[in-house]
Parts: sequence; structure tokens; C-alpha cells
Amino acid sequence: MGVQDQYRDYVMTGFVKRIEPVVVDHGEGAKLYDEGGREFVDCFAGISVTNAGHANQAILEAAKAQADKIVHACSYVYYVPTVGALAERLAQVTPGDLRKTFFCNSGAEANEGAMRLAKRFSGRCELVALESSFHGRTYATLSITGNSGRKKGGGPYMPGVAFAPTPYCYRCPLGLAEDTCGLACAERVREVIRLHLSGQCCAFVAEPVMGEGGIITPPAGYFAAVKQILDDEGALFIADEVQSGFGRTGKLFAIEHYGVTPDIMTMAKGIADGWPLGAFIARAEIADAFQVGDHLSTFGGNPVSCAASLANIEFMTTTDLPGQAAAKGERLMARFREHAARESLIGDVRGKGLMIGVELVKDRTSKAFATAEAGFVRNFCLEHGVLIGVGGNFGNVLRLQPPLVITDSELDTVFATVAEALEAAHTAVA
Ligand SMILES: Cc1ncc(COP(=O)(O)O)c(C=O)c1O
Repeated sequence: MGVQDQYRDYVMTGFVKRIEPVVVDHGEGAKLYDEGGREFVDCFAGISVTNAGHANQAILEAAKAQADKIVHACSYVYYVPTVGALAERLAQVTPGDLRKTFFCNSGAEANEGAMRLAKRFSGRCELVALESSFHGRTYATLSITGNSGRKKGGGPYMPGVAFAPTPYCYRCPLGLAEDTCGLACAERVREVIRLHLSGQCCAFVAEPVMGEGGIITPPAGYFAAVKQILDDEGALFIADEVQSGFGRTGKLFAIEHYGVTPDIMTMAKGIADGWPLGAFIARAEIADAFQVGDHLSTFGGNPVSCAASLANIEFMTTTDLPGQAAAKGERLMARFREHAARESLIGDVRGKGLMIGVELVKDRTSKAFATAEAGFVRNFCLEHGVLIGVGGNFGNVLRLQPPLVITDSELDTVFATVAEALEAAHTAVA
């Protein structure tokens, strides 16, 4: 039985439109190869995970060496050296006075734990998140996810959650213009805390760059303004860096672009170049609020994943991978912006580093969502050897999120293929 038949008969897949028709065999750098040896330029990195590249030898060797020693012991029952070392390293490379880490296995689990800690520390129980946000697929993380497309059929969700407007300048939910808005969307966070909740707000949770929502980059002063409001209201700021972290946006963590230190920060995806690992880090006084029995994870802080993560951070810092991502991303975005003069489907090009969104619209006046066109472009690219993602609440944003080690010539291939796909989309999509 072939793998596609096995998937059809034995794997739950009803929740995706389709599995992309690629049978993955192996990868190297920013290349993936299928079973027949066909080569693809990977511009999606397994949903923004393999930031340091597929088959990164330094990371592989660190993981293999650890696997030879011990694979699992339970890092919250016994002392595990790679767990201690990684926690110390994270305290060094994360912003400000973030210091103590809890290790788990996924982004959703990290966000769940961060919310639990915020509740414990503050003694309050309510949360504010952003419309268009995505924070995971568990009950609490779906409850703070502001995109009904991800929530259908799963309600009723957790009470005590309110949503503030998305800081989405291309489609400002308040109908304002970026240069004159006075950051009204940030000010709305105060109103949501005061008017939509019951005086029990423990935290505001937000992605510094919103991934699944369509690579939305909040304006420059947004998080500083929101942090001031949160401090006034006695609420914590939980930055969800699950997708934007580990060099992806041109800094090790995207919140560094905004000069703000969150109270708690969650991480996963790019943390270990593909090994499953999630984490959240907090200031010591917040972290110490956990009481006996509050939290644990059997697999959390897996020794092999932690060894891989240590080597991943070493690779990123010694090669200035975030700086490389910043430069490559600027070049690629500049090419798409310039191309927009000739390509009417492009409504907006935005992002930071190699977290890039190209928003497609049917026309620039109505900004009608070019959803079918985006789907066509993704399929065309795949057929022509380039793997990209699609996102946004209406599925009309091309997501370019390659391994950060992608070469300039591979980026040339990505640009040329997407440009060709866009041109073909005009006639292919009626
Ligand atoms: C910002 C953000 N938070 C949380 C998650 C959930 O992560 P995971 O799928 O590892 O649970 C995702 C996944 O896409 C994400 O993009």
C-alpha cells in the first residue's frame, strides 16, 4: 500500500482541504526532495519551523550525541543537563529580564501554560487577545484565537476572553489611516479591558507579527502603547513568539523590533530546527508564582530536543542568521513591491525578515479577497518546484517563510516562480 493510500484509509485528514501531493523523502538547507528525487525550493519550512535549514549538520550531531546518552528521563522528575543549559541560554538571548523557562512540546501547550502562570501570578482570570490571532488548537488557545474559521464546531469556548481590533494597517478595522490614526487600535485595548471584561484581566496575549492571520505587522509604536496600558491596568503582556521567534523576522525575537519586553514569552516551531519543543519564559517573580501541583509535562524538556535547541541557538548567533534573514527579506520584499507596479493582483507586500506576506486582491480599490487566485498560485508554485504557504482569515495572503539559510539564487527562483504564477492566475481563475 502506498503512503497516499495509507493516508486516505488510516490517517485523520478531514480537517485539511488536501495534503499537498509531495511525498517527502529528505531535505537539505532550503531544499526538499521527494521519493522520486524531485527537488523543491522550500519556502514554507514546515510552517516556519526549520529556520536553521533542513539537515543542519551541527544541530543533527548535537541531537545524535544526546540520543546516544539518554532520550527521556522526565525533566521535571530528575535533573537533565541539557534542560538546565538551554534554560540558562534562553535567559541570555531573550529580551530584558525574562529568566525562568518551562519546557513543553508545542506552541499550544506553551500558550496554555503561559495563561495558567499569568492567572496564578495575578490572581485574576480574564484575557484579552486580538481579532485575527491564532494561538493553537487546544480548548484555551482556541478560546483566545480570534479567527472563527479555526473555531467552527468547537464551541462554546472559554468565558472571560475579549478581543481587541487587529493592528492591520492595510485593512484598518477602525477605518483609519496609518499616518493619522494616533494608534487608536492600541487605545482600544484599554477600552476592551475596562468595558468588555469584569475587572479581572490577567493578561493580553498577542503575536508580535501575526502569522496565520496573514503576516500582519503591527505599526511601530503599537506594542509600546499597549504595554503602557497593560501596566496601567495591572495586566501582563504575553508575547506569542511561536511563529515569529528564532530569527524568522530578522531579530532573534520579533518583539525586539518594538523595543518592548513582554512579561511572559512563548516559543516553539523554530526553537529546535524541527525537533518538537515548546517553551515559555517569564520574569523570575512571575515564574515563582507556580505552586506545587500547578503544572508539568511528561515529555516537556526532552533531552534530545533541548540539545538540538542549544545547537540551533549557537548556529543562529554565530552565523548572525537573524541579520541574514533581515537582509534577504528586505531584498525579496523590495522585488515584490516593485513588481506590484506591473501586477494588479498584489494589494500589499509586508513582513519582517523572512516572514513575508503578499496579500492578493481582485482590485486595489475594493480590496476584494483574491482567495481562489492565492490557491492557484500555491498550486502553480508546487507544480513548478517551489513550496509556499497561504494564510489570512480569507486565504488570500501568500506566505513566504523559507528556512533562513535559503540562498540568494533560491530566492530568485521563488520570486520568478511566484511572479509567473501570478501572471497565469489572471487567466486561470475566471
Ligand atoms: C503564533 C502561533 N501560536 C501558536 C501556535 C500553535 O503551535 P503548535 O501547532 O505547535 O501547537 C501556532 C501554530 O501555527 C502559531 O502560529
